[in-house]
Amino acid sequence: MKTARATAHANIALVKYWGKRWPGQADLNLPEVGSLSLTLDHYRSETRVAPAEADTFVLDENPGSELEQRRVFQHLDRIWAATGRSGKRPPVDVHSNNHLPTAAGLASSASGFAALTLAGAMAFDLGWDRARLSALARRASGSAARSLWGGWVRLDRGKAPDGSDCQARPIFPQDHLDVLLLVVRTASGKKPLGSTEAMEHTRKTSPYYPAWVETHERDLDAACRVLERRDLDALGPVVEHSAFKMHACIMASDPALLYWNGVTLEVIRAVWQARAAGLVGFVTSDAGPHVKVLCASASAHALATRLRDVPGVIETLTLAPGPDATAEVVG
Ligand code: PMV
Repeated sequence: MKTARATAHANIALVKYWGKRWPGQADLNLPEVGSLSLTLDHYRSETRVAPAEADTFVLDENPGSELEQRRVFQHLDRIWAATGRSGKRPPVDVHSNNHLPTAAGLASSASGFAALTLAGAMAFDLGWDRARLSALARRASGSAARSLWGGWVRLDRGKAPDGSDCQARPIFPQDHLDVLLLVVRTASGKKPLGSTEAMEHTRKTSPYYPAWVETHERDLDAACRVLERRDLDALGPVVEHSAFKMHACIMASDPALLYWNGVTLEVIRAVWQARAAGLVGFVTSDAGPHVKVLCASASAHALATRLRDVPGVIETLTLAPGPDATAEVVG
């Protein structure tokens, strides 16, 4: 095997993925719905996979937790199995650096597993194209499938029971629309419940889950259509609707599951007030308390200034659309 290094950027879902096609095989990790995302610059994971005497995983210069180690090595086993080579996977040394807050609802699993998939595939000489690699990345984390490309990316739900048609694809380049994304952090620390567990809880107990699934593809198609004509004013309402539908569905689980805090709500209200005052920004939020605001570049500075003043906001970052993931052999 070789030593390979990859960099993948985080992405934010604008039309959300929530829920797994179950009972399918858990290892295939098949989403129940498709999704649309924007890859971000700046927030990224850099991962190096190298031959070693024994498996080791270092995350941000610390040994990864037991759970993180299990997920990483299990994924490397998948990549090795995909090569079709017989025998046990060779032991590897994995070094990963997240240039983003890990597990805070800011999608570190997306960039992390996208980078691991690309570096692992190159280290093991798996000559697959990116579309197939995205289906492989999906098995570690649904959102990781989308981080293989820059710009605007669609992950198709697909129909095949083996998940082979559940791949992401780039639909518009990084500079397609003149937007910025504000990440408004409203809490520090890790999110309360991992997304896999939470998705299963929602699927099993939320009476709104069937409605979420049933109405979802319409949002996805609508978002892609208005995005094609670069219509942010039409895209924004679809983005907000998808996020609120996902959170309403999650909240209606039994017992309830609530990712937001009071500051989350104040930030959402502040964005709506800013919009009423003529600024162009639309909210979304993932499995955590932070708010992300998709905004017209021209409105970003004024919006960020307003949101920084909301009591309880920890920081507000302004990010641009980001590039494709990259990978190279380094030894
Ligand atoms: O891919 P996961 O398991 O990190 O789940 C992602 C779920 C959301 O971030 C809430 C939505 C999405 O499409 O990224």
